[in-house]
Amino acid sequence: MVILQRLFFICVNCILSFVYSRHCDITIRVKELRCDCSSRNVTFIPAECPSNTTDLLLMKNNLNSLGKKIFTRYTQLRYLDISSCNISAIDKSAFEKLTLLTELNLFDNPMKTFQGNIFAPLDDLQVLHISHDLLSTYPREAWSDVLNLTKVFTYGGPSNGSFAEIFSVMKNLHYFHCDYEGYVIHNYTFDSFKRTPLKYLCINGGIREIEIDTFAPLEVLSSLSTLGQRFSKLSNTLQALRVFENRQMDELDLSDNFKSYGEYVISADLFAYIGNICVKRLSLRDNDIRLIDASAFQKMKYRNCLDERETMVLKLISKKITQ
Ligand SMILES: *[C@@H]1O[C@H](CO)[C@@H](O)[C@H](O)[C@H]1NC(C)=O
Ligand SMILES: *[C@@H]1O[C@H](CO)[C@@H](O)[C@H](O)[C@H]1NC(C)=O
Ligand SMILES: *[C@@H]1O[C@H](CO)[C@@H](O)[C@H](O)[C@H]1NC(C)=O
Ligand SMILES: *[C@@H]1O[C@H](CO)[C@@H](O)[C@H](O)[C@H]1NC(C)=O
Ligand SMILES: *[C@@H]1O[C@H](CO)[C@@H](O)[C@H](O)[C@H]1NC(C)=O
Ligand SMILES: *[C@@H]1O[C@H](CO)[C@@H](O)[C@H](O)[C@H]1NC(C)=O
Repeated sequence: MVILQRLFFICVNCILSFVYSRHCDITIRVKELRCDCSSRNVTFIPAECPSNTTDLLLMKNNLNSLGKKIFTRYTQLRYLDISSCNISAIDKSAFEKLTLLTELNLFDNPMKTFQGNIFAPLDDLQVLHISHDLLSTYPREAWSDVLNLTKVFTYGGPSNGSFAEIFSVMKNLHYFHCDYEGYVIHNYTFDSFKRTPLKYLCINGGIREIEIDTFAPLEVLSSLSTLGQRFSKLSNTLQALRVFENRQMDELDLSDNFKSYGEYVISADLFAYIGNICVKRLSLRDNDIRLIDASAFQKMKYRNCLDERETMVLKLISKKITQ
């Protein structure tokens, strides 16, 4: 009987969720109206969201292409997510009237090139999620459209090992999160970032080698994260930190790296590449490192910069000993 009741209950639920599945979920908070139409299999921009919607979530639909002035109903948008929507083209005027939009997510769409300067109407755009190789096709004469970007997230590319030149005009860019497709990061990979105020960099990918001057163009970088580079070499990665010598930094996150070459010991000489940086937070979690040479700590030039030396580093060593 109980089982039958449960089955009945489950079935009522499944019918309800089926009936409502094509509608958008609306959430109202102070100064925020979110309309969630994701995964609804829609092929057009839904008209049912309130006209003062601030956050429009459309990911995982099948929009194909975005036509002229297609969002003019939603002039109050601040956040628009059209990732995974099978978009292959966007009209030049598609984003017209979205003058308040601050964040746009275009991830995971098959579009290969820009036909025009579609970001021109987006006066307040600050955060962009986009394929690297698509971004690199943005018309050069309209590069001023991306002047106010502060955060960029990219996937794919760069196909020639060098991030696109368009980054060089981003005078407000302080945060860059990217996938890197190649095995080697080169001395010239970050050349386009020379004139940006980039402070935070996170690189994902299957990197095996970092050339020694890779990070040299990043003159004000203060956080570096190379998460999950399982095929990277400890000896190689630490040497590439040489360019940060005597610099103040917030964080070096090298967790989940160095898994493939059996490098179990950090010698004092190697550790000096870290010790010579005045860094507040250091993470070496989830590596195969078993031992850090005891004299490495004594020789650290900037030992007192490290906020969490006791917690982070000692935790690492004691964890290794108890294993
Ligand atoms: C949107 O308009 C409705 C009334 O139509 C109002 O209750 C709500 O507070 C408004 N939301 C925002 C974010 O302006
Ligand atoms: C999505 O819609 C198309 C027709 O527009 C249909 O053929 C397809 O089965 C639908 N997919 C899902 C998952 O509902
Ligand atoms: C994506 O759009 C193309 C047309 O541009 C269509 O042929 C294809 O079936 C769509 N893919 C999916 C997964 O809906
Ligand atoms: C950048 O921001 C400034 C100040 O908020 C604004 O006047 C300008 O139009 C913006 N530029 C672009 C290209 O969005
Ligand atoms: C590499 O490709 C990017 C576009 O992805 C381009 O901006 C850059 O100029 C190219 N660099 C070289 C050295 O060819
Ligand atoms: C990268 O730069 C360093 C320092 O200038 C240089 O020694 C090294 O040979 C360069 N690497 C390559 C592959 O050019």
